[in-house]
Amino acid sequence: MRQILVAGNWKMNGSTASIASLLDGIKAGMDKVQGNVSVAVCPPFVYLQQVASALEGSKIAWGGQNVSSEASGAFTGEIALDMLKDFACHYVIIGHSERRSLYGESDEIVADKYAVVRAGGLKPILCVGELLEEREAGQTEAVVAKQLDAVLARNGVEALADGVIAYEPVWAIGTGKTASPEQAQEVHAFIRAKIAKQSQEVADKVQILYGGSMKPGNAADLLAKPDIDGGLIGGAALKAEDFLGICTAA
Ligand code: PGA
Repeated sequence: MRQILVAGNWKMNGSTASIASLLDGIKAGMDKVQGNVSVAVCPPFVYLQQVASALEGSKIAWGGQNVSSEASGAFTGEIALDMLKDFACHYVIIGHSERRSLYGESDEIVADKYAVVRAGGLKPILCVGELLEEREAGQTEAVVAKQLDAVLARNGVEALADGVIAYEPVWAIGTGKTASPEQAQEVHAFIRAKIAKQSQEVADKVQILYGGSMKPGNAADLLAKPDIDGGLIGGAALKAEDFLGICTAA
């Protein structure tokens, strides 16, 4: 049986003070989270040291929200994989729709980043998902397939076995609109079937998270679906009570 993962994507939110109290709150509620659920948080880079110190020895892992595809050098404002390793990150979110749409990250750049994260021994959380107009035009599967194909072509199917995919319909991110459990399951099953065409073993293993306005109130129904293996949580990850509500719904 696949492990459930609930990962918080804090985006560009928080301060030293708010993060200290958020982490205290999450740690205090972790005894209620079941054994088959792993929990992670992805803070802004500048708070990684704080998060690492606060979570060391706990059951909560942490990760970056992005990484450079380059190893080091003259890349002002970028963060290298080795730097994330320096702060004991376990995960790296890559290809989030905000990175794709606001910062122009192409499928190819995302595929390169996937390779960099794996080569460094960390777990990529690869985000895929369609825009509203793409869904309405019936292109959801084609869009998700194209995003996946770039990663498969660059990395090979085996590279997905120990990775994580997050299906995040862009129209559901931060909008309060959630894909229905059926809509989400349909795309998750599509992703798994697509991978199964190349390797059934990898398809059985890969964790596929749902992201897009997942909250304590809708998490149980989403997570009850056979191909939904957890959540990538934005807004609801910023409140300990809400985040724990999702972790315990799993
Ligand atoms: P949301 O964000 O939960 O606020 O919709 C999810 C994400 O963007 O990862």
